[in-house]
Formats: sequence, structure tokens, C-alpha cells
Amino acid sequence: MIHSALAPTLRNEQLSSVLRDAEARYVAANPRSAKLSGEAQGHLPGGNTRTTVHFSPFPLYIAKGEGSRLTDVDGHSYIDFINEYTAGVFGHSNALIAETISRTIAQGLNFGAPTEHEVKLSAELRKRFPAMELLRFCNSGTEANLLAMATARAVSRKDTIMIFNGAYHGSVFYFSHGPSPLNMPFPVITSTFNDPEKAASDIAKHGGKLAAVIVEPMQGGAGALPATPAFIAALRDATERHGVLLIFDEVMTSRVHFGGLQAYFGVKPDLVTLGKYIAGGLTIGAFGGRADIMRRFDPSKPGSFPHGGTFNNNVVAMFTGYVALSRILTRETTDQMNALGDRLRAELNDLASKHAVPMVATGFGSIFGIHFHEGKIRNIDDLDQGEAGREAEVADLKKLFHLDMIDCGIYISRRIMGNLSVETTQAETDKLLAAVDEFLASRKNLLKAVFNR
Ligand SMILES: Cc1ncc(COP(=O)(O)O)c(C=O)c1O
Repeated sequence: MIHSALAPTLRNEQLSSVLRDAEARYVAANPRSAKLSGEAQGHLPGGNTRTTVHFSPFPLYIAKGEGSRLTDVDGHSYIDFINEYTAGVFGHSNALIAETISRTIAQGLNFGAPTEHEVKLSAELRKRFPAMELLRFCNSGTEANLLAMATARAVSRKDTIMIFNGAYHGSVFYFSHGPSPLNMPFPVITSTFNDPEKAASDIAKHGGKLAAVIVEPMQGGAGALPATPAFIAALRDATERHGVLLIFDEVMTSRVHFGGLQAYFGVKPDLVTLGKYIAGGLTIGAFGGRADIMRRFDPSKPGSFPHGGTFNNNVVAMFTGYVALSRILTRETTDQMNALGDRLRAELNDLASKHAVPMVATGFGSIFGIHFHEGKIRNIDDLDQGEAGREAEVADLKKLFHLDMIDCGIYISRRIMGNLSVETTQAETDKLLAAVDEFLASRKNLLKAVFNR
């Protein structure tokens, strides 16, 4: 239940007091999470080891997951719309995955040797992503992107990488509003996401020093913003024309279409990176692409690129990934999950029209973003322009939305991004829609005041 429906006369400046009430309710409802968060402060900076999962006043500590639901340490149950930031596509307790993990562990944990599991998982991935003519495994999406970019630099003998405003390619290659101070010191040129003319002219201008252009075919961290076909076509054309490698970071997006967004757009990148869900929910990353490039890793060839990694082929991830992809995340399951996501997004946008509020749902298939925004959203600059002069208030609206959703038993991220798992039902997406409907009905005046409506 969302508390304290607002009088129509409520003024803009009341947003912070409404938010304070919501936070006070949250604190009172979650004493065990508060205690754990307090204890964690002594060991982890700010009590945190993963920035993504932090939110104020303190995050919910989760005790267990089952199917599409999570239970926190204070005993509240939530429908999970975070699903491990898209890695949790199989839900929390898939019996086949649990059985595969136990069966694999029973044969011994890791061997310092290849196993048949990596043969099977790599074959399965090549079948789905034919641009990966050869591939290698690593341990995270971050690592996959770093290795793909390092490979592009080594084979091209050029040093610069082109990225797009708002890009997230992992914790050491992040460009939300300019580069993160932790970024790898590769020379970088930033172009504009979803601006085909500018991207093509930037590639033409800098082609002589560009090793690669790296792009998320839908930007995740920026708010689930899909690339347009014209943008992707322009990147392929310009990179080919100017001898620059094109890397698709499909760590997040490869699950929103069978064969990834590369199959949806009908474009073959030179290199592809994967991660998140491809090991059935266990730690993994993968990078691969054109055989002439990836053959440089063949250790039987003189001068090959060395690429070790203790856990690159860890048996649990390799076998669980193979089983999860081949037996659970089939084309049919992927299509069903995406259809549910498409319906959810359409109905979220219908709710915005019904309440006449500046809210837009973006995304593709089973991944969605919700923005308090008026007008078109092509990229992070459009979002920034929409927030200009009201940044703090929009941030407060997001906080309020987030806390209201938690109050309704909906677990979604503070930046209001969500995704579905194969366990998510239509009844559950309907519950999310009902909670958003209630939020918009009760908070409409606050929202409109922020946008001077
Ligand atoms: C597009 C994209 N690339 C790379 C990464 C990094 O993956 P990981 O968190 O496994 O390092 C992520 C993670 O959210 C991502 O969304």
C-alpha cells in the first residue's frame, strides 16, 4: 500500500517532506537490514562492496530467493524485478540449475585442466552468436570488454577506443557523465549514442588512430536505451570503411533477442562480449569474434597472445551455462519473456497517458527503464536536458518511486531499471503495473509540479 495520498494542492517543495516520511517508514520496517548495514560499515567502505546495489538510507539485505521472489532479512517478500541486473534470467531456484551445480561439484571442483564442459558451452554460444567464430572465457563482463579492447589494440596496432556518451562497459570502463576516475587508461574518443551522422563522421575523422568502436546495442546503465537500426548500420558501415574494429558489448543485451541484438539488427560485429546470464547465474564472461583475430590466442602458434585466468574454464560455470542455455533459455522461452516485457512497457506508457504525467518507459523485450521525462529519449543527453534545472527533484522522485515500490512488495532498482526472468508471470507484471498506477494516482501532483505542469 502506498501511504498518504496527496491533496491536489500539494506544492513542489513538499516533495522532500513526503520523501522524508517514506524514508522513515522504510527505516522502521527494516531493522535487521539497518543493523547489517551498520555492521558492514566497519569492514567495507560505506558498508558496500558493489556500488550498483547501494541505495540510501541503506539497502535491503536479502535472506533468500525462490522462483521470481526474494525475501529480505526482515521477512518481507518481494517480486524481483532486478533479477541480478539481468544475470538472473533463470529465476532463483530453477531445479535443473540446482541439480546441475550439485552434480558438477560432486565430480570435483576445479582441475587446472580443460574439461568437456567448456567444449559444450563454447559450441552452444557459437551456435547462438555466429559472429563469435572463435571465443574465449573469462570471469566477468568487465574482463570480457577489457580483453576485447586489448585484443583490438594489439591486432590493429592502434591505441584509441571510441565509446558513446552514457556507456557502461564495466567498473573500469564507465562513462555516465564523463569518464570514471577508475577507468583503464586507454585513449578514448567519445561520440554520441544514436546519432548516426556524428558517429560516422567521428569514425572517419579519427579512423587512423582508432583500434575499435565499442557499443552496447541497447545502453543498459544509461537507462535501457535501445540503439536505432540506422545508428547500428552507420557504425558497421563507417568502421568497415575506415579499417576500425566494431565491438558489440552484449553482456546485458544478448538475452533480449535469441542470438542477441546483433541478430535483431542483422549486423555482424568483429568482436562480441558476453557475461551475466550465460553461466546459468554463476560468474562468467566471454569474448570472441572473427577467427583471424581470435586465432592470435592459439597457444600452439609462435608469438600467440597469452591469456591465462585461473577460473576462465571453471567447471561449475561451464557446465551450468551449457545446461541453462540449451535446456532452459530456448528461443521459445526467450520470445515469451520478451513478449511479456513488451506488453509491460506498452502498459507503463499507457499509464503515463492515463495520468497525463511526464513518464516514459524504454527498453527492449524483457529489459525496461522508467524515466520521469518529457519528449524523446535517444541518449543520456536527452535525459540530462529533460532534467536540467530540476536534477535534485527528479532524483527525489526516483527515490520516492523506489521506496513506494518496496512498500508494495516490488523490488526494482533505484535508477528505475528492471527486467524479467523466465519465472516472472503476467500476474506479477500486473502487480507492478497496479503499483505504478497507484504511485501515479497518489503522487501525480508532485510529479507535475517538478515539471511545472
Ligand atoms: C553492458 C555491460 N557491459 C559490461 C558489464 C560488466 O559486467 P560485470 O558486472 O560482469 O563485470 C555490464 C554489467 O552490468 C553491462 O551491463
